Amino acid sequence: MTMKNSLAHPNIAFIKYWGNRDQNLRLPANGSISMNLAALETRTAVTMLDKAEADRLFINSEEQSGQALARVSVFLDILRTLSGCKSFVEVRSQNNFPSSAGVASSAAAFAALALAGTEAFNLQLSEKDLSRLARRGSGSACRSIPAGFTEWQVGTSDNDSYAQSIASPDHWDLWDCIAILESGPKTTGSTEGHNLAPTSPLQSARVADADRRLAICREAILQKDFEKLADIVELDSNIMHAVMMTSQPPLMYWNPTSLLLMKEITELRRRGIAAAYTLDAGPNVHAICTAKNKDIVQRHLASLPGVQWVLVSPVGGAAHLLPEN
Ligand code: DP6
Repeated sequence: MTMKNSLAHPNIAFIKYWGNRDQNLRLPANGSISMNLAALETRTAVTMLDKAEADRLFINSEEQSGQALARVSVFLDILRTLSGCKSFVEVRSQNNFPSSAGVASSAAAFAALALAGTEAFNLQLSEKDLSRLARRGSGSACRSIPAGFTEWQVGTSDNDSYAQSIASPDHWDLWDCIAILESGPKTTGSTEGHNLAPTSPLQSARVADADRRLAICREAILQKDFEKLADIVELDSNIMHAVMMTSQPPLMYWNPTSLLLMKEITELRRRGIAAAYTLDAGPNVHAICTAKNKDIVQRHLASLPGVQWVLVSPVGGAAHLLPEN
């Protein structure tokens, strides 16, 4: 029995994906830009099952059922349709970071699954088509297929909504210091959150202004202009959270420590330390910083009350296959 193995990194968005114009195909309301995180990885193995009547899914060695399995099976159905092969498969996925860290893992998970899955079903896909496929599993996963700093084109349909690299990992030595905060009550997942985006009166303004923010962010990356990047990354995070907070029902992902850290990070920048904050659908605070400042930023964040620990990562490469074993 052959087993296909792959590895993918999660990513942190500088310009966020929030809301879909087609929830089923995961066609986003706006384009987005992110950076892959080299230090965090998901390794996935896919094996064809000969006589099984359902797919099986193991995450960090624990067998999954219910929603997690259903989501993966719906994704595998796309591969069964594309390949004409009806077999069920076993998926084993291992993260090198604890799930309790609250670091979103669906991007790395579906990027790795798209890659190992297509190999298992004997489909040869281009990077573009792999990114389109990963998008169907989790929107942000399409950005974890190419290397380095990547941009997900909003596109007009399933055919042209995918991510491409805009700069390689060695273009700019940026780091992400992720402050993991005391775990609070379970937050609303992003899939549910995307559905609520249109209920905020601010979402249309956020989407209307997205091309402008994308252009500034792209330029800041290409020019390695940290000040420019910091301003647009923080603005974009604030705009997304404004939409979340004004949805019906409102989504409030920040906790008091999140707010403290945002203030500390802008204060560091005022004192000349290149760091900028951004938050996803949870309270953890990501501080994007230059290589020179990563130790200071990490130490400072770790010293603040309410911070459990700080993960640090440089820019990561593309999702790739691993040797068969
Ligand atoms: C706030 O890609 O996790 O992290 O497509 O439902 O899996 P699904 O959503 P997901 O949404 C990511 C939301 C975000 C912003 C971002 O990464 O762009």
